[in-house]
Amino acid sequence: MVAHSVLITGCNRGLGLEMVKQLTRGNNTPELVIATCRKPKEAQKLNEVAASNKCVKVIQLDVGDESSYSGLVSHVGELVGAHGLNLLINNAGVSPKSTRINMVKWRQMTDTFAVNVVAPLMLTKALLPHLKAAAAQEEGNNLSVKRAAVINISSVLGSIERNDQGGLYPYRCSKVALNAVTKSLSVDLREHNILVASFHPGWVQTDMGGKNAPLRPTESISQLLTQLAQLSELHHGQFLQYDGEQLPW
Ligand SMILES: NC(=O)c1ccc[n+]([C@@H]2O[C@H](COP(=O)([O-])OP(=O)(O)OC[C@H]3O[C@@H](n4cnc5c(N)ncnc54)[C@H](OP(=O)(O)O)[C@@H]3O)[C@@H](O)[C@H]2O)c1
Repeated sequence: MVAHSVLITGCNRGLGLEMVKQLTRGNNTPELVIATCRKPKEAQKLNEVAASNKCVKVIQLDVGDESSYSGLVSHVGELVGAHGLNLLINNAGVSPKSTRINMVKWRQMTDTFAVNVVAPLMLTKALLPHLKAAAAQEEGNNLSVKRAAVINISSVLGSIERNDQGGLYPYRCSKVALNAVTKSLSVDLREHNILVASFHPGWVQTDMGGKNAPLRPTESISQLLTQLAQLSELHHGQFLQYDGEQLPW
């Protein structure tokens, strides 16, 4: 990974934790990985990674708690300084169990939207000064993760075109809406030279993906990070898969 600094949400387990692990390996590690999670004291695996990698800073963040954003933004500012923040990965997500039309509940819809849609948008808004500061370090109008980028971890289940199974209302609708956030951000942030894209990590063996998923977190994330490092203007505002395949909205 070529970015100087990266902030990832939801690093306690699953794909977020795997991102932190892989970012701290190899030659091209960022100088700073801000790994946020809801309960740092209980994040044993994440704390183990941080203990052996000085570049990892574990910070408390429940993405649904907007009142904590100003404190987070100040803390990030102290860590990144004038370099700004190069890469924000909105990874934290939830997927309620109920799927079919006769089971879906009002609160499932609103709670899922709060974490999967509202939080990535409002957190990006809050961290914009740091992303803009990073983008301003380079001249010209090129786009890259090395310069400044927002990556929203979406899902192919948020592809309207690929939906031939129905159900999963809270999750599907939230990822469709997250993709709309990606698209609007890509338009709004182009003038600031901040790259924005949605990524589907594949169907992966995590608590959310379950044991039957075909991909292991190591496989998904190694390919996803390879793709991130190669992003350019061509990928701005797109919906991509972990292996680089472009997905339909
Ligand atoms: N696994 C798949 O097959 C798959 C497929 C497509 C897309 N995705 C997407 O990939 C992302 C990561 O999923 P995963 O498979 O790693 O899921 P996971 O194993 O269930 O982990 C979810 C992570 O999100 C965190 N989180 C949930 N609500 C949060 C909140 N309010 N504030 C902060 N963190 C919160 C959890 O923290 P706690 O540990 O504190 O609960 C956990 O670290 C999600 O956006 C998901 O939709 C996954």
